[in-house]
Amino acid sequence: MSIALIMGGTEEQAKRVEAVIGHQTVALGAESIATETSNFMRGLDPSVIPDAIILASTVPMPAAFALAGEVSKARPDVDIVMIAATEKEVMLEAMRSGIRDVAASIDDPQMLAGLRDRLNLRTASGTSAPAAAAAVKAPAPIDFTCRTMTVVSPKGGVGKTSISTNLAVALAQQSPMEVVLVDLDLQFGDVATVLDLKPSHTLEDAFSSSGRDNLLLKTYLTVHSAGFFVLCGAESPAANDSVTADQVTALIRQLQEQFRYVVIDTAAGIDDATLGALEATDDVVLVSTMDIACLRSVRKEVELLTELDLLPTSRHVVLNFADKQSGLRVKDVEAMLGAPVDFAIPRAKEVPVAANKGIPVLVDSRSGSYVKSIKALAKKIYDRARAAEGRQGHKRLEVA
Ligand SMILES: Nc1ncnc2c1ncn2[C@@H]1O[C@H](COP(=O)(O)OP(=O)(O)OP(=O)(O)O)[C@@H](O)[C@H]1O
Ligand SMILES: [Mg+2]
Repeated sequence: MSIALIMGGTEEQAKRVEAVIGHQTVALGAESIATETSNFMRGLDPSVIPDAIILASTVPMPAAFALAGEVSKARPDVDIVMIAATEKEVMLEAMRSGIRDVAASIDDPQMLAGLRDRLNLRTASGTSAPAAAAAVKAPAPIDFTCRTMTVVSPKGGVGKTSISTNLAVALAQQSPMEVVLVDLDLQFGDVATVLDLKPSHTLEDAFSSSGRDNLLLKTYLTVHSAGFFVLCGAESPAANDSVTADQVTALIRQLQEQFRYVVIDTAAGIDDATLGALEATDDVVLVSTMDIACLRSVRKEVELLTELDLLPTSRHVVLNFADKQSGLRVKDVEAMLGAPVDFAIPRAKEVPVAANKGIPVLVDSRSGSYVKSIKALAKKIYDRARAAEGRQGHKRLEVA
């Protein structure tokens, strides 16, 4: 179990928060905050250093920012959230001070759910305080080369969203909190629905001018309990009508600075958003079903993307709903596509069931043909990422 501390809070608030997050929560009155904020960390018994700090609205804002800055410098693993007006300037300052989330009320369900999920993950991964306290003294620079994969198909309903969501889970099982899944099906994206997420921010915010700030962009992501971040689609199908391919490329590049893996789900066909994503993509996952119309369209899509010089060299052809009933054999499919099939995924009844429950197949089950195929795809991408890292050397240092 983790420990959360409400600075400037009351016992009633602590009880309410504890009931929602399911982790021990204690309150410290605002008067306990020393004028010199560093006294706060020094004065604490190391065996009870909290995993999370909620800065209540009774803490004056400059003191809250100073305290957060102090704590995050000494203990970057402490999860700090702040109760304040969610204005752009406040959010920006908060993120710069190392605050993970800002909410208008201490009872904000989204903020508490996010905190609960992050604390659950820490507890599950065994990094809960005080064990982590000694280990995490200063921010350890993480060096890595980001790998970006885009799941595309000329046709709808072929399994793109199922593959991208489960691929994100598989990668997060290897690299927790280092994966971001982007719903680039700008009009009718359903990633949030199939993952049962209720995002407080979406792609619409990410494409706004404030989204260009890396720190603010991170606050627009929603944490999934399987250990990855999601940039969810906008509520209205018209919200991102005027988004250009260049804007999409710029957004993906921003995410690449902060994550080890970027997984992108797209709409059927080739729209501007998909072209923008492919510009910044290392691995393209081409999804087809076993029918001639779809296979012909995939072939045409490959030809067009090659002409546009937008087809990444690292390609993975996935044949979904693969079964003998189609009357085609994999050999016929390969002849029609002019490319080998890398993964043939059979129809599996757990896939729609999982989508309807809002729990990805890979979270719920450890075996089965669908799980096996997605894990194999994730491993292939993982191996290529490691091989590319070996060739290029480490690209840069993590900043967030
Ligand atoms: N291998 C599979 N076996 C059984 N059902 C599957 C399989 N793959 C996907 N499905 C189901 O097929 C439907 C369509 O899948 P999905 O939403 O992933 O496709 P999509 O290509 O993203 O569709 P769209 O183009 O509309 O976004 C969903 O109900 C999903 O649960
Ligand atoms: Mg989809």
